[in-house]
Amino acid sequence: MEVPASLRLSHFWQIRDLFVVPTHRRRGIGRALLGSVRAAALASGALRLVVQTEEDNDPALGLYTDTGYRLMSGYRSLMLTLTAIPAAVRRAALFPAQDLLDLPVGHPSRRVVVAGVTVELPAGLPMGDVFPELLEESGVEPVVGAVRRFLRAQGREKAVWFVSDAASPRDLAGRLRTLGMRPDDEPPGEPRAAALVTVEPPPPGPPGVVARRVESFEEFLAGERVAAAAFQMDEKMRKAFEERATRLWPFVAADGAIAAFVALVDGEIAASAGAHFGRTAVQLSGAGTRPDQRGRGAYRALVRARWDAAVERGTPALTVSAGEMSRPILERLGFSIVGWIDCLLDDLS
Ligand SMILES: CC(C)(COP(=O)(O)OP(=O)(O)OC[C@H]1O[C@@H](n2cnc3c(N)ncnc32)[C@H](O)[C@@H]1OP(=O)(O)O)[C@@H](O)C(=O)NCCC(=O)NCCS
Repeated sequence: MEVPASLRLSHFWQIRDLFVVPTHRRRGIGRALLGSVRAAALASGALRLVVQTEEDNDPALGLYTDTGYRLMSGYRSLMLTLTAIPAAVRRAALFPAQDLLDLPVGHPSRRVVVAGVTVELPAGLPMGDVFPELLEESGVEPVVGAVRRFLRAQGREKAVWFVSDAASPRDLAGRLRTLGMRPDDEPPGEPRAAALVTVEPPPPGPPGVVARRVESFEEFLAGERVAAAAFQMDEKMRKAFEERATRLWPFVAADGAIAAFVALVDGEIAASAGAHFGRTAVQLSGAGTRPDQRGRGAYRALVRARWDAAVERGTPALTVSAGEMSRPILERLGFSIVGWIDCLLDDLS
């Protein structure tokens, strides 16, 4: 039977963080420590001890060669340099409403703070989106009451609360469920979303797919229709999407805080997506591909187009709350999960 090389070599021990305080060097302490490690490794059945050090670290190289270590031939040390995710970008992903720029005057959607909680009233849709962050332990119930009263007064039929696992109190989602909310399982909603981030360029889309900002109202409307089809919206929601497109268009065209993108395959609009420009990151929203156009890289191309827009704007970071369908694709494109968001539906009728 063929034995895999890694098993044939048995296991090995790797030495890390050997350090002797400067005042006690050259007294045999390093050598003694290496001797103990060697004995323990042998006792465990390991067949090799491995250590890495900089090529100009003469004391360390002296110690290792003097105790019998030899340079490994046939191996190269390899490294992948990772770009650290800034804390502000992580926060922007966990609390999507916090990083966004104020909506311009006259915008048909509204974002307001009710009892310390950010509430968004999307234009022309019957719901409100609620983004709690830090609530007082004793304040959960009063805050929920105030938000409910506010949304009812605004004529909203339901609310979706987006509760990050970094929100407080720690069991906020559980507390909200005891107050009558339930996991959002009404399409296009999903009960749980991953908060994802990338600060490195995602790969470009495939050749033949053109992803760019919409260039006319007709394209914007076509994009909204694609989104409605992709998210299997019912007739009422589809109508609401089309109607609000007219009201949103001036703000989409104005190159302000929001932008709309389309992906064209063979010159036809196959997918659409949104972007919200924030202070530290660009938030991806509502990307959808027509069911008959899936699997051609339209979504990937839209992610890259929005990355390019983020770079152009001087905020080279993308954040997104992703459900089951898009999360694996985004992870393959280099996004990292920085947390989870419970999506809770609050029926206000
Ligand atoms: C490398 C280090 C752990 C050596 O510890 P130490 O207790 O001083 O080492 P020892 O006294 O046991 O030295 C054993 C042998 O190593 C070699 N050696 C140690 N220091 C050396 C030096 N400055 N130059 C050349 N050879 C040296 C000698 O062969 C020495 O034997 P000798 O004293 O009989 O000549 C210590 O210098 C250190 O803490 N350096 C900073 C941290 C570091 O670089 N760690 C290695 C990470 S991979």
